[in-house]
Amino acid sequence: MQFKKLTDFSAAQLLGQRVFIRADLNVPIDDAGNITDDTRIRAALAGVRFAAKAGARVMVTSHLGRPTEGELRPVESLALVGECLSKHLGQPVRLIKNWVAGGFDVADGEIVLLENCRGNVGEKTNAAALAKTMAALCDIYVNDAFGTAHRAEASTEGIAHHAKIACAGPLMAAELDALTTALANAKRPLVAIVAGSKVSTKLTILDALAEKVDLLIVGGGIANTFLLAQGTPIGKSLAEPELVGEARTIIAKMQARGAAVPLPTDVVCAKRFSPDAEATIKPIADVDADDLIFDIGPESAAALARTLQSAGTIVWNGPVGVFEFAAFSDGTRVLAEAIAGSSAYSIAGGGDTVAAINAFGIADRIDYISTAGGAFLEFLEGKPLPAVAVLNVRG
Ligand code: 3PG
Repeated sequence: MQFKKLTDFSAAQLLGQRVFIRADLNVPIDDAGNITDDTRIRAALAGVRFAAKAGARVMVTSHLGRPTEGELRPVESLALVGECLSKHLGQPVRLIKNWVAGGFDVADGEIVLLENCRGNVGEKTNAAALAKTMAALCDIYVNDAFGTAHRAEASTEGIAHHAKIACAGPLMAAELDALTTALANAKRPLVAIVAGSKVSTKLTILDALAEKVDLLIVGGGIANTFLLAQGTPIGKSLAEPELVGEARTIIAKMQARGAAVPLPTDVVCAKRFSPDAEATIKPIADVDADDLIFDIGPESAAALARTLQSAGTIVWNGPVGVFEFAAFSDGTRVLAEAIAGSSAYSIAGGGDTVAAINAFGIADRIDYISTAGGAFLEFLEGKPLPAVAVLNVRG
């Protein structure tokens, strides 16, 4: 990676400079207005503190959700994010609305939060006019939003072409470092766990990993589609029958390389989707026509856990069951603990995965937890990330 980093600048170089930080503060907020997981806000603190401590005039922005440009609704405001940021930083953080054209002052060492950048017209289409106007607000542009590095938007990509200086923040640099280290020279066996409800949303990543990994563990609805592909009935479980052909191709690709896609031999089923539904453990061959598979069974979980003990590198994206419901959480918990206990270098990413890691209290035993979802997957796929590519171009 050839890019400049915020931390390359001395305090003297940053003093009084207008520093624009594009962070990813896209956190989950419940209906009662509580931030239910502030991991991304905490992860962004280092860059913000670094600039503010040096006496820079710090402007931070982020997207929150996917608003309609020009029509930001109150629930899409960064107001709650600003309060949380301010609490963690121990200093006030003013929220600036309608900021694109400037007209606001920031004092040396002050931190302001610029309202949801996806509310700006031209953000998603990476409009050059918007990118240039935003670039004019700052002396130094910092991209610390690894979570949106796969999006070429005005605040992630366009602005970096026009800012006087464009560099990576500490979180962006750390994410790229950790993922590159883990994958470029991965210690073998390299095991990937890719789980989630749909094959369709992760087909390209499954395909790409099928050429790299020694073991591809699939879970959730994805595993159900793979079970169908090998002719195993799955009752009424979530699956995408139209994608069994793709699943077969992935299995064949892995087998041709002497690699494997282990599928569950037992599962936890229920007749309805509910936290209090009666959970039944059964061999996969006994799944009834009206069953819904919600987790892998204990035999499958134990077998996978044993395999993980001899892994060299483990990449984890997605829980293997409905871990939010206690009755269907064991499979994910057993895998999580096996990953935590393994001597392999382990990296995990994605909102659900991080939620599972936090739920099972194993965060400090995973080598690297990415704050990203989509960007993490695209990196694993080997796709260039546009917001990183432009930083490399700027050098
Ligand atoms: C994420 O939640 O994965 C990132 O914040 C990116 O959000 P997006 O998918 O809406 O671009």
